[in-house]
Amino acid sequence: AGERQERIWVFIVLILLTVLTIIAMLYVVIDYNLVTKSGGQTPVIGQMTTDQAQPEGVAVETGPNAYTVSLVARMWRWAPGPIHVKQGAKITFRVTSADVLHGFEVQGTDINLTAVPGEIGLVSHVFRKPGTYYIICNEYCGLMHHAMASPIIVDP
Ligand code: CUA
Repeated sequence: AGERQERIWVFIVLILLTVLTIIAMLYVVIDYNLVTKSGGQTPVIGQMTTDQAQPEGVAVETGPNAYTVSLVARMWRWAPGPIHVKQGAKITFRVTSADVLHGFEVQGTDINLTAVPGEIGLVSHVFRKPGTYYIICNEYCGLMHHAMASPIIVDP
């Protein structure tokens, strides 16, 4: 009887390992999908249509003294690098998410919106003072939520 029980246990462990391997492989496939959609050398907004696509985290001039900055939040960053904007210009942020909900908050301003996968949130702001402002995340999004901060550098 002991040997039979042993075999059953080996069988159960093998099935568990197989299931875990399949889950892990699915996860990699899904993750890779996200990367190819919005990653690469010149990242564009994965969730937006082609005509709306803009480079991530770069201020694009859209009018007199008006700029747009597109951001794709993902675990756990807002932009590929520091975002440079001009003091006194109207900056419109277009914010979406590649994975889960993130809370888009810019410290020292009243900017506060939720980054939602598949949707583009818009918020405009004029930075009156030069300096460094931090985008933080105010919606719990997992392990490194607290470290999800990106600088906005306001150039005079
Ligand atoms: Cu992103 Cu919390």
